[in-house]
Amino acid sequence: MLDLGRLLEKCQRLQWSTDDVDWDAPGADRVSPAQAHDLASFMADLYWIESIAAVVFDAMAQRESDPTRRAIFESFRADEARHAEAERRLMVRWGILGRHERPVPNPNVRRLISTLERSATKVHPSVFSAIVPMTELVLDGALVKYLVNAVDDPICHRAFEGINADEARHLAMDFHMLEYYGREQTRAENAIDLIRSFVRPSGLYAMFFGYMPMLARSRVNLERMGLDLDEAAKAMRRYVELGERNPDIARHPTYALMRAYVDNVTQGRTGLGDMLVRVSDVLERFSSRPAA
Ligand SMILES: [Fe+2]
Ligand SMILES: [Fe+2]
Repeated sequence: MLDLGRLLEKCQRLQWSTDDVDWDAPGADRVSPAQAHDLASFMADLYWIESIAAVVFDAMAQRESDPTRRAIFESFRADEARHAEAERRLMVRWGILGRHERPVPNPNVRRLISTLERSATKVHPSVFSAIVPMTELVLDGALVKYLVNAVDDPICHRAFEGINADEARHLAMDFHMLEYYGREQTRAENAIDLIRSFVRPSGLYAMFFGYMPMLARSRVNLERMGLDLDEAAKAMRRYVELGERNPDIARHPTYALMRAYVDNVTQGRTGLGDMLVRVSDVLERFSSRPAA
């Protein structure tokens, strides 16, 4: 059982600032212009995923009635904003971005961000409790691990030491909340929350036209970068295994839905995500086309 009081104390004690890192320290040239170019879209995805996580944790904090859990989520929101800024500063350091520039979000990310900013607090936290651990496992676990191995810049390593320490706390809380919603609410209540969140057009839209294609697109980016996808698949399997070990988690309807999707992706059947990328690209073209 996770001791929430102790976790909160750690969350507050272990806060750090991007100003603690010397972004102008030597070593930036260990990332060649060619490597920086290859990393650009990956880093941009990473930046926006952290930014989305900050919005989601903010919504979870707002919906939380327990003061300890609320304070933990508030600290997570600050962590994710800091991670995004650290990754942005790395992009500046490697010449991918100007000093005060932010990366341009791809169409899926832009749609998801604007939907979440409008309506994240309307999505029931139990739905987020299933989506967040998946994101944290894959994007922070596998992708960050890849980046740290691929990049020889000591400041990149320094930044991710801080980020990984924060993420360890996030994962502990993610698993706790997943189990909590699986256990505390009956299966029916959870299903109703899920349906309520989905029936709202914005919730559905955010989920299918934002989040899932983003995962698939990340996969495409990763393949282009020459990443061994085994590492990503391993992290995703950890998500699937959560339900194998814990019946409370397995009962969680949003988790069950995500798990089925993840199971497909890790077995190489990415049809759904690939299809959605194409659909959302088409939608993007329609919505950006000047009226005739
Ligand atoms: Fe993060
Ligand atoms: Fe996180």
